[in-house]
Amino acid sequence: MTADQMKKAAALEALKFVKPGMNIGLGTGSTANYFIEALAAKVKEGLNVQGVPTSRATKTLADGLGISLTTLEEHSHLDLTVDGTDEFDSEFRLIKGGGGALLREKIVASSSRYMVVIADESKQVKKLGKFPLPVEVIRFGTDATAWKMERAFKLLKLEGQMVLRMKDGKPFVTDGGHFIIDCALGEIPEPERLDNLLNSIPGVVDTGLFIGICGIVLMGTPKGVKEFKRG
Ligand code: A5P
Repeated sequence: MTADQMKKAAALEALKFVKPGMNIGLGTGSTANYFIEALAAKVKEGLNVQGVPTSRATKTLADGLGISLTTLEEHSHLDLTVDGTDEFDSEFRLIKGGGGALLREKIVASSSRYMVVIADESKQVKKLGKFPLPVEVIRFGTDATAWKMERAFKLLKLEGQMVLRMKDGKPFVTDGGHFIIDCALGEIPEPERLDNLLNSIPGVVDTGLFIGICGIVLMGTPKGVKEFKRG
């Protein structure tokens, strides 16, 4: 079974959480796209829901497939968010942002009653950090911010390569107009502490650590979709 087939199976399973009339946060990335396509098929059959996209790319996709869209301005509390992830651990902590949409993803997911994460089995880790941690930073004074981030890493005895994310030879700019620094730290022993330290640095907008937000993970495996629920 390929990773794509596992992603798709998890995405289809997530439809069971969707009820008529819901306002749903729509994630970003290849796994979330499978969910959006499946949701659009249900909408075509008559399901009445509204989606809040977490990126411009998701907005274009969902709109093109005929899903009614709304905003957090119109609905500040959503019923559900379904999104992919780059990593998850046994405590439902995530690293997200591989696609660069971490800020809107976090705002939307944390405004939702439930965040359901859909993933293939390669995303499950014992300790977060195999995937480089994306940190979204203000464009002003990026080097100064990076230096403070490095100092925070040292406090936690972490070190690793920090790379300004590039696209087409230029720094990648997020939908919010910021840069991303990808930090290859290796295993992160205290994700909460790291998140707090990074978020206290002026210039850091947010990190790709999602802590206390995800309640359910649907993981596609060759033997079927496994469901993990936070107690
Ligand atoms: C987007 O910014 C990310 O948070 C994605 O959710 C994450 O990178 C997972 O992407 P895939 O579903 O494409 O693996």
